[in-house]
Amino acid sequence: MNSIVLGDSRDSANYPDKIHLTITSPPYYVGKNYEKDYSFDDYRAMLKNVFHNVAENTVEGGKIAINIADIAAFSKVSGRVEENDQVLPEITRNLKEDDCHLLARYIWHKDPPWHNSQHVTYSDRIPATYVRALPNWEYVWVFYKGDSPKREDMPRMTDMISKEQWTEWVLSVWRIHSVPANDFHEAMFPEDLVRRLVHLYSIPDDVVFDPFMGSGVTAVVAYKNGRNYAGIEREKEYYELIHKSLQAVENSLERLYSAPPRFEQNRLPGFPKR
Ligand SMILES: C[S@@+](CC[C@H](N)C(=O)[O-])C[C@H]1O[C@@H](n2cnc3c(N)ncnc32)[C@H](O)[C@@H]1O
Repeated sequence: MNSIVLGDSRDSANYPDKIHLTITSPPYYVGKNYEKDYSFDDYRAMLKNVFHNVAENTVEGGKIAINIADIAAFSKVSGRVEENDQVLPEITRNLKEDDCHLLARYIWHKDPPWHNSQHVTYSDRIPATYVRALPNWEYVWVFYKGDSPKREDMPRMTDMISKEQWTEWVLSVWRIHSVPANDFHEAMFPEDLVRRLVHLYSIPDDVVFDPFMGSGVTAVVAYKNGRNYAGIEREKEYYELIHKSLQAVENSLERLYSAPPRFEQNRLPGFPKR
């Protein structure tokens, strides 16, 4: 446990056998360097294969949280492949075959794209009537495995997170800033997004897994919050980055400071009721 595999997540040998929560963001098929070798058919087959492996190794009642933009990049207008209905419904149909079912749909409301991309600016060259919406949101869909999303003998949710956290996190639109463009990775998760999922869908000592680990944010946040981590990344450069990030947090006191969790305040005598 607490290990990252340098390898391909299509290979089932790279998986831990007891995953409680997967938090992941697959490639979006938008022309990034790390997805250039996939044709669109490869891409769809890869997603099917990877989420099958994830489902196989997830415990009963375990959760799979998938973040994807599902932006309209699959169109003749963008010069990519033919119009395609969205990727997440296809993943949903595939996961159903593996006894995994949709539990929740969140919208991650992020910064306007011009905050992070020099390619998106005010332009006076766009012809009238030709407007494409610029996406400032992404999906996070959560699935559970088996007959019920309930796991055996779980503490109450109010024992796990504070009232303030509950009030903000159970709503289905999450306003979270994107990670600014940087030299580390093209598509990093904001820590806050992962933290919410970790606290809502796992308990301490669970295994939190990411088959597209990228820069390692899932592992770092899992570790900081008292969970075990596991993951797969196929690019060596990112694999090394993950280890650097993990080393930094393992050598810091941050984990000690984030435990015990803040839910303790729910039980403090005299804590003002709202
Ligand atoms: C959208 S990024 C994930 C970024 C990550 N959420 C983060 O916070 O940094 C997708 C990652 O999946 C990796 N990847 C793509 N295909 C893969 C495969 N078949 N097996 C393992 N990793 C893969 C890419 O190298 C890339 O780092």
